[in-house]
Amino acid sequence: MTILPQAALEDLLEMARQAAGRSYSPYSRFRVGAAIRLASGEVVTGTNVENVSYGLTVCAERSAVVRAVSQFGPDIRIDAVAIANLNGQPSPPCGACRQVLAEFIQHGAQVVFPTASGPRTMAFSELLPHGSDLKLK
Ligand code: THU
Repeated sequence: MTILPQAALEDLLEMARQAAGRSYSPYSRFRVGAAIRLASGEVVTGTNVENVSYGLTVCAERSAVVRAVSQFGPDIRIDAVAIANLNGQPSPPCGACRQVLAEFIQHGAQVVFPTASGPRTMAFSELLPHGSDLKLK
C-alpha cells in the first residue's frame, strides 16, 4: 500500500484538470477529468464522453479505468484517484464509478477531489465501504 504525499496528490489533481479540458460534454456542459495512479507508478487519465442518448454517457473515472486496463492489462492496481471538473464544484465519483474503481483498487488507496475549502483526500474505503465483492471459487 502506497500513501502518496500531498504534493503527488496535487500533481494528480492537476492531471485530472487537464483531462477535464478534453471532455466531450455538449449536453450537460459538466467537464470532468480523472487521473488514476497505478501501483506501477503510471498515471492514466480519462474524461467524460457524453452521448445524445444520455444513458450511454461514460464518466471520466470509468474512461480512465478502461484506458488503464487496455494499456497495461488486467492486473493493474490503483493506488490513487484524482477527480476534477471545470465547473467549480466538488465532484467525488458517482456510485457506478466507485464500484468500477473497486474492481482494481489497491488496499489503502486514496481519492482526492477539490472542494470549496481546497483539495479533500479520503480513503477509497470511506467512499465505498460495502461494495459488492463477489469471489468466484
Ligand atoms: N460525470 C463524471 O464524469 N463522473 C462522475 O463521477 C459524475 C458525473 C459526468 C457524467 C456526465 O457527462 C456529467 O458528468 C454530468 O453528470
